[in-house]
This record gives sequence, structure tokens and C-alpha cells, in this order.
Amino acid sequence: MTTPLLIDTDPGVDDALAILMAFAEPAVEIVGLTVAAGNVGLEHTVRNALRLVETVDRDVPVHPGCPAPILPPPASAAFVHGEDGFGDAGLPEPARRASTVHAVDAILDASRRHAGDLTLVCLGPLTNLAVALLIDPTLPSRVPRLVVMGGAVDGRGNTERIKAEFNIGFDPEAADVVFRRWPRFELVDWEATLAHGIPFERLEGWLAAPTPAARLMRAIAEKRHAWVRAHRSATHSHLADALAMAVVLEPALVAEAADRHVSVALVGEHTRGMTVVDWAGRTGLAANAWIARRIDQAGFERRIEGALIGR
Ligand code: RIB
Ligand code: CA
Repeated sequence: MTTPLLIDTDPGVDDALAILMAFAEPAVEIVGLTVAAGNVGLEHTVRNALRLVETVDRDVPVHPGCPAPILPPPASAAFVHGEDGFGDAGLPEPARRASTVHAVDAILDASRRHAGDLTLVCLGPLTNLAVALLIDPTLPSRVPRLVVMGGAVDGRGNTERIKAEFNIGFDPEAADVVFRRWPRFELVDWEATLAHGIPFERLEGWLAAPTPAARLMRAIAEKRHAWVRAHRSATHSHLADALAMAVVLEPALVAEAADRHVSVALVGEHTRGMTVVDWAGRTGLAANAWIARRIDQAGFERRIEGALIGR
């Protein structure tokens, strides 16, 4: 029995690895990629999602979503992922075409088609999911599992608004809608990502594998690795979406977690887009997030290795 999995994504290099990890797992059936603007613009993220389903030669629909955050201006992570989101590696245009079904409609359709069974993972800004929730507030009742890559639970963000993590900071209003309307979701944040870096030496060994997945990742990751080495870590790659996908595929990898109420700051020069965790339970608000704090590193790395070398 396979689990239907819908992936909302803004590919992006780490999104690509996460999606390849999901395709490498036989226990899940990927029912679609719903695409958001985020790391780079929607035209690029849709094209990259098409490249991914071509790489693995799977007949999975790619649904273009919202082209911008609820409130402008859109941020960009092109300085990390390349102007095209895939390392400006000069990849050929994908032959496949995107679906004519909008991502928001695809999320609602999948929730009805797989009611009670669907796992939804969000690897980018939450714009598509927020709009789906506004259209149909009953959506969470049909989706037993939502995993969100986003936030920085102790305020160590990764954007110029230093307490904000990119996905939440790109569209704080969307995250606010999701965090207020989704009764309980799993959260894999930026600080967990920082705690689970992958040594470059090990990662580059896997990227040398003669597989389509490794070839694609080798091509698109080069620019990002150079940036990370120069600006973040000379030794480790921090792959947020891959970590979130490891939790999706193998929940038992979570070694330490905390149930807490998490909200999103919408205002403040230094705080807009920040995730605010009620660690001491002072608000009296029920926990809405199961926050993954520590993940089994060896199991996480096994998932990446398996996706790249085809084990
Ligand atoms: O902060 C990390 C997140 O922002 C990841 O999803 C990465 O792809 C970027 O979208
Ligand atoms: Ca992403």
C-alpha cells in the first residue's frame, strides 16, 4: 500500500534533492508537484519541476501556482540557487508541458481524491496552500499529514530580516493563514537544518555516481556549493528541503520533537516573517506544530545517498 504524496515546491537546488528522494521511495506515490514562486520566479520553478519529472522519467503532473506572495515585494534566492534556480547550469528546455490545472485546484482535487490518505509537504513559500485554505477551510480534514519546511524556531533565520527563514519570510501572510487554519502540522525549520549539515566531501562522493539523479544534482548544485562554501560553511551543505523530505518519508528519523504553538510575525522591521514559538505555553493556545528538533543523521544521509546513487 503506497501513500499518496503531494509536493508543493519552489525548485531550487535543495527542493530538487528532496523531490529525487521522494521519487526514490517506493512506499510513496507522488500524485503531483504543485509549484510556487520562491527561490526564483514561477516561470523558472515550473521549468525546473518539469526537468525533475523528466530526469526520473515519471508521469507526474506539474501544476503552476501563485506567481507572487500575497503582499509584494517578492524576495529571491537567485544569489544561492542561480538566476534560473538550477545553478544556471544551462540545462536544456524540458520537453514536457505543465498541467493546465492550477496548483491551488490541484491541492484541493488531490485532497478529495485521496481524502484521509494524502500527505502534503511544502518545501517553499506557503502561498498556494494559503489560497487553497481560503477557498476551502475544510481542507485539513482530508489531509492527515502536512509537513512544512520553514521557520526558525529560535529566531536564527537565513534572510536579511535576520530572524526570518526564507519560505516564511517570502510570504508571511500565507504562513499566517496556514498556521492559524491548519490544526496540527509538522515543522522542519532552518535551525534543524543547520544542525544536520552534510559534509561536502561525502555529498560530492554521492554526486559522482553515474545516475541521472546524481548527474542532474552535480550540474545544478555547483553554484550553490560555491556560495555556501564562501558564505556559510566550508565543510557542510545545509539542505533544508532534503531534511524535511527525510522526515516525510521516514518519521521515525525524528529523535527529538516538541509540540508547541507557533505563530508568524507580520510586522516589524526586524521581525516580519519571524516564527514565534510559545515554548513556555504562556499564551494558553493549543499547540499547532510538532517541531522536529533532532533527526537521525545517519538515516537522513542514507536517504540522500539512496536518491543519488540509486541504491
Ligand atoms: O530556508 C530554506 C528554504 O528556502 C528551502 O526551501 C530553500 O529551497 C528555500 O526555498
Ligand atoms: Ca524550497
